[in-house]
Amino acid sequence: MTTIDTFGNNLSKNFEIVNDLPVEQQLETIFRNRNSKTPTGPDPVGLEILPESTKKRLEDDNIEISQGYPEIPPSENIPIYVDEVLKIRSFETPYDDRAKNADPEKKALFGAAKEVIHLTKNIGTEIVGLQLVDLTDEQKNELALLVSERVVVFFRNQKLPPSQQKALGSYWGKVEVHPQATHVNGIPGTTVLWSDYSKKKGNKANFANNGLQNWDVLRYQHQGPFAWHTDLVHELQPAGYTHLHLDAIPSLGGDTTWASGYAAYDKLSDEFKNFLDGKQVELQSLHGYIDRNDPLGGPKQVSRVHPLVRTHPVTGWKSLFINRGHIKRIIGVSPVESDLILSYLFDIFEKNADVQVRFNWQPTQEGYGTSAIWDNRVSQHKNIFDYEGDEPRHGTRVTTLAEVPYFDPNSKSQREALGKPIYKWE
Ligand SMILES: [Fe+2]
Repeated sequence: MTTIDTFGNNLSKNFEIVNDLPVEQQLETIFRNRNSKTPTGPDPVGLEILPESTKKRLEDDNIEISQGYPEIPPSENIPIYVDEVLKIRSFETPYDDRAKNADPEKKALFGAAKEVIHLTKNIGTEIVGLQLVDLTDEQKNELALLVSERVVVFFRNQKLPPSQQKALGSYWGKVEVHPQATHVNGIPGTTVLWSDYSKKKGNKANFANNGLQNWDVLRYQHQGPFAWHTDLVHELQPAGYTHLHLDAIPSLGGDTTWASGYAAYDKLSDEFKNFLDGKQVELQSLHGYIDRNDPLGGPKQVSRVHPLVRTHPVTGWKSLFINRGHIKRIIGVSPVESDLILSYLFDIFEKNADVQVRFNWQPTQEGYGTSAIWDNRVSQHKNIFDYEGDEPRHGTRVTTLAEVPYFDPNSKSQREALGKPIYKWE
């Protein structure tokens, strides 16, 4: 019999029957064997396709790439069991949002910028004429506040060494270090997002299949980040300020779309808002692991319970904290009710263009990169795969983990707080 895991790997190849051991130990042996055969450290494969602009950015930051790029984390750090993953970050780390110290008018940030362009009414702002590496602490605080309010903020024409990108993330809080994702050599926490590399490593995403996850995310999850999702929601303290910098950008295509959780919440009727307020959801990880209590049940996602409607600690606004990519159910309602309600809530994000912004990453000056910084607590996003991995698209992502999500029953919706009309259904 051939056993294929969700990664498409043939487990049977590695199967060594040790009859007097419990089955979970046999499985552990299989997985550890597989992990130990996975190459780690700088990957020579990446060097074959490394874009010139990325190479220059790495060299300018004195990053050693002669042996390979990107760096694959050590296989012994890859967790095998669900409980091992939960243990990695099961203790609360104090988090104090820097945006709380910001001038509400953001005079230091806006005063130094050449232009501040709001891209849509409800989400997305571009700042022109500032280098992220030059920001003062005061401006970093104000930028955090702007991201909290506008959900995503863009900076084109950036010279941003990966080490500086990590330093900015660390200023805002604890940077997430992924046990499996590749990162810039020597700088854990700078996750590499590089679709042509993934393609070379066997990812099968193409024009025909890259959207299938929008219908069945678990079945097609390993084809890429092309379904609507929110990053790392299974963490005790999920990602807050998330910063993707692209240093290689397709000549056409490869846009990213974001949707606002504040605006999505405000699409609902007051009756329905009241029903959802205070409910909890079971969110889950992308990767699957072995469940010790059901080792033959196949890979299980790590799950975590968080509020369905969460309050942003700085703006105080309510936001829908659900996404198609990483959610199991709403707690306290039947599975059928949960599926129906979630399907409707996904649609609110995905079908309403007035809660979304779509961004093309092209810089206006050749040789520069572009940054997007979004508040992952109050948004969803998806990458648009129209470039089909045929042109280089390379980026580094630094993610700051935020507070444990909470719901404050006294908090307001964005429209309520801003004094915009709230429509009543008679
Ligand atoms: Fe993402």
